[in-house]
Amino acid sequence: MTEEIHYNPTSAYFWLPRLLRGSIPFPIPKTEMVDCDFWDALTVLDSKKRDKIPWGKLELAVEKVGGPPAFIKSDVASAKHDGPKGYLVRKKSDLKSVICATVDHNACCDLEFAGFMVRQFIPLEHRFCAFRGHPIAREYRFFTKNGRVCCRHFYWPKAAIADSINSLPKMPGIKWDWEKDYEHIARPLSDGEYEYMEVATERVVRQMGPYKDWSVDWACDMNGDWWLIDMAIAQRSWHPHGCPEYPPVGNG
Ligand SMILES: Nc1ncnc2c1ncn2[C@@H]1O[C@H](COP(=O)(O)OP(=O)(O)OP(=O)(O)O)[C@@H](O)[C@H]1O
Ligand SMILES: [Mg+2]
Repeated sequence: MTEEIHYNPTSAYFWLPRLLRGSIPFPIPKTEMVDCDFWDALTVLDSKKRDKIPWGKLELAVEKVGGPPAFIKSDVASAKHDGPKGYLVRKKSDLKSVICATVDHNACCDLEFAGFMVRQFIPLEHRFCAFRGHPIAREYRFFTKNGRVCCRHFYWPKAAIADSINSLPKMPGIKWDWEKDYEHIARPLSDGEYEYMEVATERVVRQMGPYKDWSVDWACDMNGDWWLIDMAIAQRSWHPHGCPEYPPVGNG
């Protein structure tokens, strides 16, 4: 699959090569794309048949990004709400279950993907987990309109986290007093952080060609460095209610 024949701008086959074309002064996770036809990928969900997943290429890709550990998603979406079981390859033998979760999630959301992204795993700043053990990290989504940043929002809606944590059985090890930690992690960006991501977001969007309305996701690692994690066209991206900049449509 080449980017020339892939015109879904929310697919990493579109945005990643355009992003890498420029000299980017901020980190992005090392990434290997492993092509896999959607219908071939679905065969992994049928235990009675031999699947058509390119396991050898996936294993090599995990090594190339310095893993394990490695983070896995399709070119359009991850199974992040399943927690680490949905994306984290801690050891090579995790590949099968992570690929199954990724394919299953994308298929359930009617997302016809074209391949897998195998990515360097970045330990992100966080204080607690939700969604079956997913770290709720310091992440911000910047939106652009006509190439200029028009708004930005903390990535994790509080209500979704409350739903996730409150639906859990009362087991030891779950952090119930998460709200203070949430306020800390969701704290406003400093002026310096905002300026850094505003400039970087607009620069990245200039590299995207004809599309000017984007969401660009940034995540902060343990050292305080911000990584560009993901992109999507704005209209396909989740956006909080109450912000006048975009109607809250889609879920990306
Ligand atoms: N390389 C990585 N290392 C560690 N954690 C990661 C990495 N990439 C993503 N994550 C975590 O997983 C989450 C989901 O990743 P990502 O945004 O790539 O998936 P997505 O399904 O496309 O999400 P969205 O619905 O926002 O488009 C991120 O918000 C972040 O918390
Ligand atoms: Mg995405």
